Amino acid sequence: MRFGLIGLGGIGQVRKAAIEQSPACTLTAAFDINKDNAAQLDSGVQFFDSLEAMLNTDSCDAVVISTPTNFHCEQAIAALEAGKHVIVEKPMASSLEQCQQMLDAARRADKVLTVGFNHRYFEAVKDVRNAIQSGEIGKLSYIRAYTGHTGLSEFKSPWMYDKDVMGGGTLMDNGIHVLDLTQHLMGGVNNVSGVALTDIWKLGRSEDNGFALMRGKDGVAAILHSSWSEWKGYRFYVEAYGDKGMARAYYAPMMSTVITMDKPGGKPVKRRNFYLSAIFREKLKGWQSTVIQTFIEEIDDFVALTKGRGKTGCIATAEDGYRVTEIANAVYKSSETSETVAIKGST
Ligand SMILES: NC(=O)c1ccc[n+]([C@@H]2O[C@H](COP(=O)([O-])OP(=O)(O)OC[C@H]3O[C@@H](n4cnc5c(N)ncnc54)[C@H](O)[C@@H]3O)[C@@H](O)[C@H]2O)c1
Repeated sequence: MRFGLIGLGGIGQVRKAAIEQSPACTLTAAFDINKDNAAQLDSGVQFFDSLEAMLNTDSCDAVVISTPTNFHCEQAIAALEAGKHVIVEKPMASSLEQCQQMLDAARRADKVLTVGFNHRYFEAVKDVRNAIQSGEIGKLSYIRAYTGHTGLSEFKSPWMYDKDVMGGGTLMDNGIHVLDLTQHLMGGVNNVSGVALTDIWKLGRSEDNGFALMRGKDGVAAILHSSWSEWKGYRFYVEAYGDKGMARAYYAPMMSTVITMDKPGGKPVKRRNFYLSAIFREKLKGWQSTVIQTFIEEIDDFVALTKGRGKTGCIATAEDGYRVTEIANAVYKSSETSETVAIKGST
């Protein structure tokens, strides 16, 4: 499949490397408002001066959108209407209304639209998903999740913490990945209550810490904390607890733990996985090398969808992208009203 890349910044460069290394596709076209970024492209890739110019040609079959979040909606709709399949980076858009408009455009155009929730492809996360789906930890009861980084010192541009662009603060930034993992692992969320705090960075409408308490299918509960005040580095974990054990994914470094027992309180059997190849690869080639692996797997699932082979692997659909944005927005509403907010999903 021939891919066009819209946005050649920080994550766009990682997307570029993944497309180039993926056996399923070729990078054939690119657009970025900063023309200097064209210098990073191989000679076989056609760089366009405008999105319209790129979409008006037959230079690609699908696009990856890795621009600031407030451009996702208009660029995705333009690409879908031009007959391209679309992978859009997380978060799907700056508002829930925009997510719905993108979904409607994909349905009208009969093209595939997916959202870049690549954390689903982390090996440690797959271990947790397998432990739930195989019944290894028994009946799932609750999930506990955390994600944090150092906040403003992490950001290269002010739009990255501007609510008008990102749709929120930490919950729409690093939190959106772990909100997605949580709702994905627990099989959907029915209602949410939560708190959004702005005490540390004092950014007005962009929260620096967000807390969500969720209730899902069969009464499964989840609690999540997303932070911009993890004062050292970046990390996340997701822990799933059942009536016969627990499974935990941790990053970074990548590791997972599964503890099982025949009944609550029984003799525990512990299995720990250290993903040594990922750990050493990151030491040599940086965190981007792990993200590239996940993007390559995501592209495989995406291509399968565009070929009508149905949903393979764990790719996040546009409906997933909508639902996760809805959960983050529900925390904002609950924080203002102190009420529990129902999650309805897209129409
Ligand atoms: N999947 C992940 O783990 C992950 C990680 C980081 C960022 N992201 C997401 O990727 C997106 C981009 O983030 P980034 O960190 O690469 O930002 P960035 O600022 O490093 O790069 C953005 C690029 O888009 C270009 N650009 C800006 N406006 C444009 C427009 N209207 N049309 C075309 N190009 C435009 C800029 O020139 C720049 O090259 C955001 O939505 C962000 O949330 C995802």
